[in-house]
Amino acid sequence: MKLYFITSNKNKVIEAKKKLGPLGFNIIQEDLQVPEIQADTLEEVALFSAKWAELRARKPFFLEDSGFFVDSLNGFPGVYSAYVFKTLGYMGILRLMEGVDNRDARFVAVIVYNDGKEMKMFRGDVLGTVTQEPKGEGGFGYDPIFIPKGSSRTFAEMDTAEKGSFSHRGKALENMEKWLKNTTK
Ligand code: IMP
Repeated sequence: MKLYFITSNKNKVIEAKKKLGPLGFNIIQEDLQVPEIQADTLEEVALFSAKWAELRARKPFFLEDSGFFVDSLNGFPGVYSAYVFKTLGYMGILRLMEGVDNRDARFVAVIVYNDGKEMKMFRGDVLGTVTQEPKGEGGFGYDPIFIPKGSSRTFAEMDTAEKGSFSHRGKALENMEKWLKNTTK
C-alpha cells in the first residue's frame, strides 16, 4: 500500500520506511512546505496541517508533529521544539539544565492520517532522561541528549531500527499500522 508522508524532514522518512516498509507499506515523501501554526498542543498543530494538506496532497497521506518535553522545565521546549532546536540547539537545553537533578523528559509524536474519506489521529510517547552531555552521532534533533527508559544509550547511539523500537515516532507509526491493518482488511 502506498502512503504519502508529508514532511520536509528526511530523517523522519528514513524512520518511517524502516518501520513500515517490512510491513508492506511503500512510504513516499511529499515535501509540501506545510505551514506550521503555533498552538498549545501537538494535536492542534498536526490537525491544522492535515486540513491544509487535505486540499493539496495525494492520498492516502499522513503527517506528524512531534516535540520534546522536559519535566524540570515544565514541559519546555514542547510545542516549540523545532524553533528552540534552531535557536538554542540541544546544548541550550543542557545549559538550562545545569545542576538540575530531575532529568526526566519525554518525546511525543502525533500523526494525522487522511485518505480523503476519513481523518484519524495516532499518538506515541516515550519516557526517558536527559543526559549530562551529548552522546552519539546518529539520528537528528535532540537525539544525542535523550536516553529512553529501558536503555542505557541515547537515540543518537542507536541505529534506525533500535531507535524505532523505543521512539515516540515508532509507537505512533505502530498505532497507525494496527488501525490500517484492521480497517483495510
Ligand atoms: P516537528 O515535528 O517537525 O515540528 O519538529 C519538532 C522538533 O522536535 C524537531 O525539530 C526536532 O528538533 C525535535 N524532534 C522531533 N522528533 C525527534 C526525534 O525523534 N529525535 C530528536 N529530536 C526530535
